[in-house]
Amino acid sequence: MTDTVKPSFSCEDLLESIAEGVIAIDTDSRICVFNQSAEKLLEVSRSLVIGRPLGEYFKRNPRISELLKATLEEGRLFAEYGEKLFRRITGDTIPAGITTSQLFDAEGNIQGAAALIRDLSGIKSLEEGSLRKERLAYLGTFAAKVAHEIKNPLSGMRGAAQLLSRRMADPGHKEYLEVIMKEADRLNTILNGMLNFTKPAKLRKKPFNIHKALDAVAFLMGDEKLSIFIRSYDPSIPDISGDENQLKQVFLNLVKNAKEALGEGGSIHLTTRAITEFHIVEGGDKGRMVSIEIRDNGCGIRPEDMEKIFTPFFTTKHGGSGLGMAITLNIIKEHGGHLKIDSAPGKGTSVTVYLPLA
Ligand SMILES: Nc1ncnc2c1ncn2[C@@H]1O[C@H](COP(=O)(O)OP(=O)(O)O)[C@@H](O)[C@H]1O
Ligand SMILES: [Mg+2]
Repeated sequence: MTDTVKPSFSCEDLLESIAEGVIAIDTDSRICVFNQSAEKLLEVSRSLVIGRPLGEYFKRNPRISELLKATLEEGRLFAEYGEKLFRRITGDTIPAGITTSQLFDAEGNIQGAAALIRDLSGIKSLEEGSLRKERLAYLGTFAAKVAHEIKNPLSGMRGAAQLLSRRMADPGHKEYLEVIMKEADRLNTILNGMLNFTKPAKLRKKPFNIHKALDAVAFLMGDEKLSIFIRSYDPSIPDISGDENQLKQVFLNLVKNAKEALGEGGSIHLTTRAITEFHIVEGGDKGRMVSIEIRDNGCGIRPEDMEKIFTPFFTTKHGGSGLGMAITLNIIKEHGGHLKIDSAPGKGTSVTVYLPLA
């Protein structure tokens, strides 16, 4: 009896096929593995680096050497360590997450260390360019004024329609008035969203259970189709400290988007994880974080739309408000968190919220 299945591909094939860059060093800190994705990410040919001492070719990316050395020599492991990687040919930088591990032989002796490098170009670090910030600040005050101005007459109109509908005998006419009320309510929701976004309520932080909050959102969104949710929760996650209502709003927005993107037979995965040694931006947060991923297998986001989805009022939906993602980003930022989004058109979208654990 054997408990392994012999695959029809080699370990080499596997290394060359995966999307993450893999770099491994031996106990003398010489580079012994440098896969194709690592070549693409760093724009360095492996022929230049294999067998060379670590550091020689990573002068512009010293963090890679540092992390690998710390892993090899001190046994320190890093998970999704956030780093801007320098690319040799184009000279630009890309955000990446570096995860390291020690390499052991069958006897359990340490034989080296490996780093897995993930391209995080899709990441929305909250330190955005000043242009967006300025635009948002301007939009903020402007939108808040407009929202206030519209809310009052709108509620007057809705009230009048309601009064009229009570007096209306003709059910056909009643129906028109109901349309007016329904649309007024929808406008009101949009205006509330705008006010929420422009003047976010003060955070009322207290510890709460993230899984209960997610379940409440799933319940709210699921109606009869609770089965579209596939939950995979990390039970080791302690209560997190945050504004429960606002974070529920975040998950509601994200789950709603996921649901709206789904076709027939689609599903939404809710996955939570506790993460240690999380450094998403240089000099950024250290310490423990929790990640909450909302993944759908819906229509996905076109690459050209990716940049715009956080811009207030950007929507690809008929009747969409285009405020969900902007509000979501704002609330996460208030909590000192991050948001990462990966999407493939036609395949689906994964949105991950990172929140700090106290
Ligand atoms: N999970 C998702 N799948 C596909 N597209 C998405 C997803 N989440 C967001 N989007 C895109 O981002 C846009 C903006 O989202 P949002 O700010 O919530 O506004 P709205 O949902 O009102 O359009 C959406 O119109 C859609 O194009
Ligand atoms: Mg939305």
